[in-house]
Amino acid sequence: MSVLVTGGAGFIGSNLVEDLLNSGEEVVVLDNMHTGSLNNLAGLDGNLNVIEASCLEIPILDLNPIEIFHLGIPSSSPMYKKQPFLVGEAINGTIAVFELAKKSGARVVYASSSSLYNGLNPPHREDMKILVTDYYTEARLAVERIAELYNILFGLKSIGLRFFSAYGIREESKKMYANMVTQFLWKMKEGKTPVIYGDGTQTRDFIYVKDIVRALKMAMNSDYHGILNAGTGKSYSFNEVIELLNNQLQLEIKPTYVENPIKNYVYHTLSDTSKAESVLGFRSQCSLEEGIERLAEGYGFANP
Ligand SMILES: NC(=O)c1ccc[n+]([C@@H]2O[C@H](COP(=O)([O-])OP(=O)(O)OC[C@H]3O[C@@H](n4cnc5c(N)ncnc54)[C@H](O)[C@@H]3O)[C@@H](O)[C@H]2O)c1
Repeated sequence: MSVLVTGGAGFIGSNLVEDLLNSGEEVVVLDNMHTGSLNNLAGLDGNLNVIEASCLEIPILDLNPIEIFHLGIPSSSPMYKKQPFLVGEAINGTIAVFELAKKSGARVVYASSSSLYNGLNPPHREDMKILVTDYYTEARLAVERIAELYNILFGLKSIGLRFFSAYGIREESKKMYANMVTQFLWKMKEGKTPVIYGDGTQTRDFIYVKDIVRALKMAMNSDYHGILNAGTGKSYSFNEVIELLNNQLQLEIKPTYVENPIKNYVYHTLSDTSKAESVLGFRSQCSLEEGIERLAEGYGFANP
């Protein structure tokens, strides 16, 4: 019996796939390579089958998973601004996943997003009333509602994890959509100046990708149905991130500050971690300081 990972050739997906393969699981990756890449799976050892297709094609594929991690959803807000039809893709892809779960009896754990808290004051709790003001939030809230609907109609239990800002290796194929920690690191390592919108005091709850992978697996092993945050409960400003990167890489690069061109910009994110902790026993283990060290090592930029 296999574990299906939609979006498994993406950043978080490939880190999850690596972990599942190391645990001896038989893994099927379904990815349309929108922002994913086969490079992310290169060199992973184990029982892995990769299907290059969209979640929309699930009904015509021969799949019979015992568990489904559904991460294969267009992954960033600006994409939806350019292509509003991605809202439909996110919704229909998710319906295809839940139809498959209904047929195969698989449990589903899916990616939701801290972007749902846009416009709400931190700390962000799962029971806050979500304000939908853009296409991306509409899509992600709809995904959560579909999961709820399959529970009401068919008793399917699933967990939606609202990921905060995940960072780690294998974000190259996301390009400008990669996390800011990683984008700053790439720039600074080339000796270039990172560019910050505004004055750098905006804060994010940055979570290391291996902690996200732990949360995904804990959610799969639980019997709970509903929505949980996957964050650290601690936030850092972009200025602090640059300082940590300078320390790690032994550089003294100052960022360039430019006027913020983005409407509806999110200034602060911070996860209330209490529900995930009481339901799953999940707490992030890796601090940003350690995560940056591991990230730099992962890219072969160990502290000289
Ligand atoms: N990285 C973060 O900080 C973060 C935060 C909140 C939510 N998320 C969500 O977590 C999931 C994984 O994010 P990521 O950071 O690894 O991004 P990613 O872009 O690397 O991963 C998404 C993967 O899904 C694939 N995909 C997109 N549409 C698809 C479709 N219709 N069918 C099949 N595959 C499809 C892409 O090709 C890509 O490989 C996404 O749903 C994303 O929105 C990520």
